Amino acid sequence: ELDKKADALVSKMTLDEKAGQMTQLTLKSFTNGKSGSELRLNKDKLERYIAEEKIGSVLNCGGQALPPEKWLEITNQVQKYAKKTRLQIPVIYGLDSIHGAGYVSGSVLFPHNIAMAAAGSRELVNKMAEAAALETRAAGIRWNFAPVLGVARHPFWPRHYETFGEDSFIASELGKAYISGLQGEKLPLAEDKVLVCMKHFLGYSYPRSGRDRTPAWIPEIQLREIFVPPFRAAVQAGAVTAMINSSEINGRSVHASPFYLKRLLREDMEFSGFTVSDWADIDNLYTREMVAENQRQAVKIGVNAGIDMSMTPFKIDFKKHLVSLVQAGEVSVERVDEAVRNILKVKFQAGLFDDPFQDNKLAGQIASENAKKLNQRCAEECITLLKNNSDILPLSEGTKILVAGPSANLKSVLNGGWSRTWQGREEHLYPETQKTILEAVKAEFGEENVSFEKGADFQKLLNADKAYAKAEKCDLIVLCAGEKTYTEHSGNIRDYEISLSQRKLAERLSEAGKPIVTVLTQGRPRVVREIEKLSDAVVMAYLPGVKGADAIADVLSGDVNPSGRLPFSYPKYAGGFEWYDYKKSADWSQCKVEFQWPFGAGLSYTDFECSNLKLSRDSDEKEDFNGLKVSIEIENKGRMKGGYIVQVYVSDKVASVTPANKRLKQFKKIYLKPGEKQTVEFDLPPEAFSFINAECKRVIEPGEFVIRAGGLKKKFVLK
Ligand code: IFM
Repeated sequence: ELDKKADALVSKMTLDEKAGQMTQLTLKSFTNGKSGSELRLNKDKLERYIAEEKIGSVLNCGGQALPPEKWLEITNQVQKYAKKTRLQIPVIYGLDSIHGAGYVSGSVLFPHNIAMAAAGSRELVNKMAEAAALETRAAGIRWNFAPVLGVARHPFWPRHYETFGEDSFIASELGKAYISGLQGEKLPLAEDKVLVCMKHFLGYSYPRSGRDRTPAWIPEIQLREIFVPPFRAAVQAGAVTAMINSSEINGRSVHASPFYLKRLLREDMEFSGFTVSDWADIDNLYTREMVAENQRQAVKIGVNAGIDMSMTPFKIDFKKHLVSLVQAGEVSVERVDEAVRNILKVKFQAGLFDDPFQDNKLAGQIASENAKKLNQRCAEECITLLKNNSDILPLSEGTKILVAGPSANLKSVLNGGWSRTWQGREEHLYPETQKTILEAVKAEFGEENVSFEKGADFQKLLNADKAYAKAEKCDLIVLCAGEKTYTEHSGNIRDYEISLSQRKLAERLSEAGKPIVTVLTQGRPRVVREIEKLSDAVVMAYLPGVKGADAIADVLSGDVNPSGRLPFSYPKYAGGFEWYDYKKSADWSQCKVEFQWPFGAGLSYTDFECSNLKLSRDSDEKEDFNGLKVSIEIENKGRMKGGYIVQVYVSDKVASVTPANKRLKQFKKIYLKPGEKQTVEFDLPPEAFSFINAECKRVIEPGEFVIRAGGLKKKFVLK
């Protein structure tokens, strides 16, 4: 029925109207270029672009946050101008609500996805996405450019923090939870939901150089094994739009590649929604990717390859070229009709044809008490305790603490990018109520017990001697280290080590002979080998959002028992990195695979004992095999209640394609009181025993498998 409705409309449209639907402009093209309360819509430009040129989509607002009332004024005005067009096709408005509605002032800023992956709970991700949907929709926006489903296989890539980490299964599972939270279970959209945009299809998350939007080299076996599954799962979960990787894989620019856009996305994965380019990426085909000689050719290549909508983002040259290409027979009418049909179907699914306007009834629900509580829980559950020598943590009451380091008294380092502004560095834009780590530690341990000396900036050693002198008078040092905020390419780095100034500060502080607890706020694992050696405890907080500092302080005091697990392998050296699912042959020489902390690392203040790992069968005939049930008992043997993420790994002993050392195939977070015991059961479907073979097909081969969970293992044989 959706197809019929869309077809009926397409049949009435002129070429100019169709090309308009395929064009997306940034809001900045219709404003006075100012920000915040000074931002005004330019009515002449709205008339020109929306009413006359019939642009089909608008995005963002120039990387700044606006109050919901302002957003409603903007989005409703845009729709008003769309109503002036002959066919009154509504505009679809898209925004980056990456960790909560970051561009809606007053909204809740949650931990970034990398932290949510550490929290290990589908339920929390789902609830977080529900809250983000509501706060985005309250601004009249029905399309969110999220989630990022790239599997982060380069730990120093600056968009690492937007992902769910290095594992494909976690990305698939949390991606599904995110999608159902944002979009709801069915379409058309409910009034508090937004459409998702799975991004960035495909291979964006593994640039060889580690720098943003640079080439990836990914063999097809690995592409299908690691990178395709989260996108496939997202399509099955109902994702109706896809944003495309700005760069290239194996020399094929993804925006120009029918292999990725048609064969993989549409034919193999059965995606039926619409594709949108990333920022100016059609132009990039001739300015950066060099697969087109000029703009006109770039439009031709991109549209013919399968791009349905172009984020142009300022001018309408795309539209002009498209019209002329169709007139010249270089892009077929059928291809344009297909693209427009894809877009219109989604506009129907967004409920835009029923009513494109939005009243302010959700605006009052922004930053509800429930959302704030949820945010606190997310922040608490993501924090990952990586080292705790002699149980130095939790700290006892009355401990005299020196808080030091460049991240100690900054709010931005907790929120990361996509927060109020693009890079999120503007401290004054964060709520008064948000605490820095220093403020939270003072609130938790008492002002009288806490002193402060920054000692170093991110790039410069400050007064480290003064910090040392203060350290001498304290019982313990909380060293707040990490990175300042960045977004996309603004976070490109060449030196993977944490900055020299921070290493020097740690060294100087250690001379005081007091225990050091290092708290890391960072979206990717900067190499901290030297600081780790000097630290008695290491707390990884990732980018934990506006409640992050409170959660960190609660972990230091023991009010919260840490329960996160690293969703990536933390490299020990800058010179090379491995993934947790490395191949056996990667580990045979003297230079063994070595991590600073392995994937899945995470300590607790209580003791969990795992026992009785059981399989429903020890062996099976391959032909009859319909999966395996696994169960394991977990008991809290310690004195604190706590969360524990049970992870189940499968290893294929021998296979026709070199098998991974192990792969995560199930996980579940449970919560146990002291003395409590729980049996956790899992289903391992046949796919958990499969892999991509040399013909790039997913297959299961008979042989021996090892199932691991909670430090225990069992053998399983497929005959
Ligand atoms: O959605 C983003 C994308 O992830 C990076 N480039 C800009 C887009 C729109 O803001």
